Amino acid sequence: MIKKEMPKDFLWGGAVAAHQIEGAWQEAGKGMSIADVMTAGSNLENRMITDGVLDNQYYPNHEAIDFYHRYRDDIQLFKRLGLKCFRTSINWSRIFPNGDDELPNEAGLQFYDDLFDELLKNGIEPVITLSHFEIPYHLYKAYGGFKNKKLIDFFVNYADVVMRRFKDKVTYWLTFNEINNQADGQHQLHTWTNSAVLVQPNENAEEVIYQAGLNELIASAKVVKLGHEINPDFKIGAMMAYVPVYPFSANPEDQMAASKVMERRYFYSDIHARGEIPSYTLAYWKQKGYQMSYTESELQALKEGTVDFIGFSYYMSATVTTQKIDDLTGYDIPDFPQAKIVKNPYVEASDWGWQIDPVGLRYVLNTVYQRYNLPLFIVENGFGAYDKQDDSGQIHDEYRIAYLKAHIQEMKKAILEDGVPVMGYTPWGIIDLVSFGTGEMEKRYGMIYVDKDNTGEGTLQRGLKDSFAWYQKVIQTNGQEL
Ligand code: BG6
Repeated sequence: MIKKEMPKDFLWGGAVAAHQIEGAWQEAGKGMSIADVMTAGSNLENRMITDGVLDNQYYPNHEAIDFYHRYRDDIQLFKRLGLKCFRTSINWSRIFPNGDDELPNEAGLQFYDDLFDELLKNGIEPVITLSHFEIPYHLYKAYGGFKNKKLIDFFVNYADVVMRRFKDKVTYWLTFNEINNQADGQHQLHTWTNSAVLVQPNENAEEVIYQAGLNELIASAKVVKLGHEINPDFKIGAMMAYVPVYPFSANPEDQMAASKVMERRYFYSDIHARGEIPSYTLAYWKQKGYQMSYTESELQALKEGTVDFIGFSYYMSATVTTQKIDDLTGYDIPDFPQAKIVKNPYVEASDWGWQIDPVGLRYVLNTVYQRYNLPLFIVENGFGAYDKQDDSGQIHDEYRIAYLKAHIQEMKKAILEDGVPVMGYTPWGIIDLVSFGTGEMEKRYGMIYVDKDNTGEGTLQRGLKDSFAWYQKVIQTNGQEL
């Protein structure tokens, strides 16, 4: 029989990350994180990663939206919106300012104690990412980031401290945000933010990132096991960026290319969920002559620390072809040179070129559930857009409502018609925040507006967009009214 209603305990929420909202980058003993040396960029200009903080540069994450000082008021807005849960991260560099410190910073722990208390007091469940692009900068400087195995121990120690401290306040945990974002090793922003690794010209980028990624997966597995010992009720998940790659045509070569490109991404969730290095990856390493370092006890750790659920972000799909078609604009895939990512003629794109494909979300929910048989949690989905205030200061963001509505409709089909167990849905950037990819403020995702522009000017005042009232109704009716 087809269920008609969404699960009663469905976690409708909102998502952010510490470095994109908190600001207060040097407050209460916080150390410098890898986000603190990233300048502002744009759609056309990459963010720079500077050698420390330079006087003549603008670093948008230093102040962000000042959530650190304003969270009590913001939480009142979240409560009004009706959020059942709020996904944010613990900024690692608030707890261990250098990453390798002997003792944690009590003021950093206290901040999250207060934040979680405030959420719980207002009936909002915290969903916490342990590492969302906030690795202490010193771990890059002194150790070269996650390509160094010492970072496994530093991460496990950090997780041990926060999971013990917050064991009665936080139930839902995610280990590494969008861990597969770095899969091909070619995009500096991604290798930096996921792994604190800057690949050197004499290094093989793909090999370095496979090692860093494997080290993170080992660290994650150890933390899953440890977390369950600290509190058996913990639900600890992976966090993947799922961008399904479709074959451009019915040409079998395109199908093969799509499946090969997906393998590079599945490498991460396959280990998270199945506890072993997939055979296709072992074959690939052998073929490339990569010398990966891992021990028997690390392989054992992978087996013992499989995740309870798969959390993931979904924004868009991609399309791949091996054919040479002149009128197709596209870009090469560094880790799969035979193929090219090309525009999908059946879908539209956002102002930043992200392909809008709600059906792709249903497709991901189905394929990932069939692959792992684990509950799924959509922990990011949203529409980055330029918002314009009308004469009275209102923002009528019907384009955002349309995007979210179409995605929720597809999610409901997956749950109600396809039988996929989905734990919750937390749209990204529920309150405007600093874009990770470009460092802009004006690539806005929020239902709550923040008065600040790309140069850092603005009052930081909060306002409600039309999408606020719309989402409020969605939550109130448990997804019945869209
Ligand atoms: C995901 C990240 O990549 O997408 C977030 O987990 C990020 O940190 C979000 O902000 C949207 O990307 P962007 O580049 O538009 O901020």
